[in-house]
Amino acid sequence: MKNILVTGGAGFIGSHTCVALLEAGYSVVIADNFSNSGPRTLERIREITGRDFVFCEADVTDRAAVEGIFKENNIDGVIHFAGFKAVGESVEKPLAYYYNNLVSTIELAKACLSHRVKNFVFSSSATVYGDNKAPFTETMPLLPTTNPYGETKVISERILSDAAAANQGFSVTLLRYFNPVGAHESGLIGEAPNGIPNNLMPYITKVAKGELKELRVFGDDYDTPDGTGVRDYIHVMDLAEGHAAALKKMSGFSVYNLGTGRGTSVLELVTAFERANSLKIPYRITPRRAGDIAVCYADAKKAERELGWKAKRTVEEMCRDAWRFEAGLRDEK
Ligand code: UD1
Repeated sequence: MKNILVTGGAGFIGSHTCVALLEAGYSVVIADNFSNSGPRTLERIREITGRDFVFCEADVTDRAAVEGIFKENNIDGVIHFAGFKAVGESVEKPLAYYYNNLVSTIELAKACLSHRVKNFVFSSSATVYGDNKAPFTETMPLLPTTNPYGETKVISERILSDAAAANQGFSVTLLRYFNPVGAHESGLIGEAPNGIPNNLMPYITKVAKGELKELRVFGDDYDTPDGTGVRDYIHVMDLAEGHAAALKKMSGFSVYNLGTGRGTSVLELVTAFERANSLKIPYRITPRRAGDIAVCYADAKKAERELGWKAKRTVEEMCRDAWRFEAGLRDEK
């Protein structure tokens, strides 16, 4: 497998994965419509890797556009990141979420089958586990998610699993991400959400920058050691490398958690950020956020055992790199 189509390759996880793939010697075709990203990231991927790639400005729900990409490029595998991902917005605009996230998955899978592309990796999320008891293992029965975004992940997983079962030789790997944070260590690419961030780390970096006054900690009455929510934060470059490891082992249908296996509370993350960057993050405890669960972390052993991949970067490195990107501190080497 040499040439990989990366949808959403200008986005947060997609761009870091392109870096990992180019550095591992793959050729890359990026398809992105810049719905939540921009062309500058593409320049930065070139700058970091010193390598070029094909770029197609395309919406992958558009059948004709997808067909064109597959016709013009000799694709060996697809990693499908492109999708809407804001939980709150998905409750307000369910049809947009179901349409965008499901039609893209179907069109890409269909194009794979008609062009005999045998490998499909899907960006899924730990959200599919719902409120299970951590650590989450791949074999657990999935519980309902609380929002349309989560449902699009559950349904896409199902669509791809059925497609793999029905088509011998079509290999599908579902990767369930825990909480990706941080940035490439150069500080050149990172997470740049539009508007006010929903997720914890980008919110913290905006507070650190003075663009937001204080962090709201959503609840300190959970059944956790300090009462705040516990998550499995994973450095985005570890996650990116997980994709390269998954591509090497494609066969049949597989599901892997990509997490560290360790939980960190909101207040622990705030403290780690302050320590890593010698900064103070003002915060205030507020009521719980609707739909949040208390504890979410991975059982990460399957990926280690079968893919030979393990997250290796620390929470401090996640905090340092997230801030380096946000603050615009660049490693000019
Ligand atoms: C969220 C989504 C999840 C999605 C994931 C990746 C929700 C309910 N879940 O996960 O479906 O797959 O992002 O995009 O949105 N927190 C604060 N203050 C903040 C922001 C967050 O205290 O301003 C807390 C949360 O309550 C939680 C933790 O920080 O305990 C992590 O939150 P977040 O970064 O939004 O991720 P998840 O909720 O785990």
